[in-house]
Amino acid sequence: MGDPTRIQWTRFRSAGPEIGTPDPERWASLGFPSPPPERPWIFGVVVTSANGVVAWRRRDGRDDPVRAILGDATRLDRIADRRLMRYLRTIGDVGIGAQTVREQPTLILTPQEPADERAPELYAFRVARGLPHHPRNIIYSVYGRVPPEHPMLTTPGLSPIIVTTPAGRAELARRGIRDAAVIVETLLEPAGLQRAHARLRTEHGVRYLACEGGQTVLTALRAARLLDEMFVTTTDVVVDRAAHEGVLVTFDFMAEGATLVTEGRLEPSGVYTFKRWRFGGTAGSTRWWRSRE
Ligand SMILES: NC(=O)c1ccc[n+]([C@@H]2O[C@H](COP(=O)([O-])OP(=O)(O)OC[C@H]3O[C@@H](n4cnc5c(N)ncnc54)[C@H](OP(=O)(O)O)[C@@H]3O)[C@@H](O)[C@H]2O)c1
Repeated sequence: MGDPTRIQWTRFRSAGPEIGTPDPERWASLGFPSPPPERPWIFGVVVTSANGVVAWRRRDGRDDPVRAILGDATRLDRIADRRLMRYLRTIGDVGIGAQTVREQPTLILTPQEPADERAPELYAFRVARGLPHHPRNIIYSVYGRVPPEHPMLTTPGLSPIIVTTPAGRAELARRGIRDAAVIVETLLEPAGLQRAHARLRTEHGVRYLACEGGQTVLTALRAARLLDEMFVTTTDVVVDRAAHEGVLVTFDFMAEGATLVTEGRLEPSGVYTFKRWRFGGTAGSTRWWRSRE
């Protein structure tokens, strides 16, 4: 029998040319279309509760919605979800909203976070495909409220890129953040967000971008028709929405007209579901579907 944390995917239709796998025992190879010429291919990566909750406003430092949504830390499903997320960090570069950066003070977007199992094969897999050791860590911030001491800004080799506005650039300077690359655009307008991603492609060579949330940034990307697809892990935890304030839920994919590309689970006794939803109507995905239908 293979590794019990390997997700068994059911393929409904091709997701694009296969990218390969760092270890076929643990990860099935996933496929990705070529990115559109003018920007990266952008895929969201989130975990939701059984009733669609991705986060709520934290009461204090111990109130952690992500841990609550994931449930028991020792389960095979949870290990499989973490491994999927780490594999998705080998595809290209990784982005995250500033609120998540502020609320997760130890987060770094790399295939092996400091508390993780050793994963040299994930880095080797990147390097073999011509990518740098670490993915670029891209932070989205309108107002520049990024903590200067955060490890995404201080860890050697991470090459952070902050995507911000003119007001945000001034705040970053006020905070003494000078070592990160900065892209300045009018991000609250869809056209500004589109220009920022065109510049990630042309100025930084970002071809694939895993956006790990939060929902606020994913919603902005979707509104700007930049979000091509989403990897969504749904756990068995049911969140009492009345017990929290500021509850955020993920997209209603059916209502959005998204297509379920693949669905996975652990066999024989997995309790999470792993889904991949592809949005229609964006420049990249439309062209890709047309070219193969
Ligand atoms: N369940 C999951 O998979 C998952 C994934 C990620 C995060 N989370 C959790 O979700 C919570 C945070 O999520 P969130 O939705 O509140 O925040 P978020 O998406 O992480 O970040 C929101 C921030 O992004 C910036 N922003 C907003 N609109 C933007 C735009 N159009 N362009 C560029 N930047 C923009 C702003 O930064 P400034 O305020 O600096 O201007 C805003 O405060 C945390 O608790 C985190 O742990 C859960």
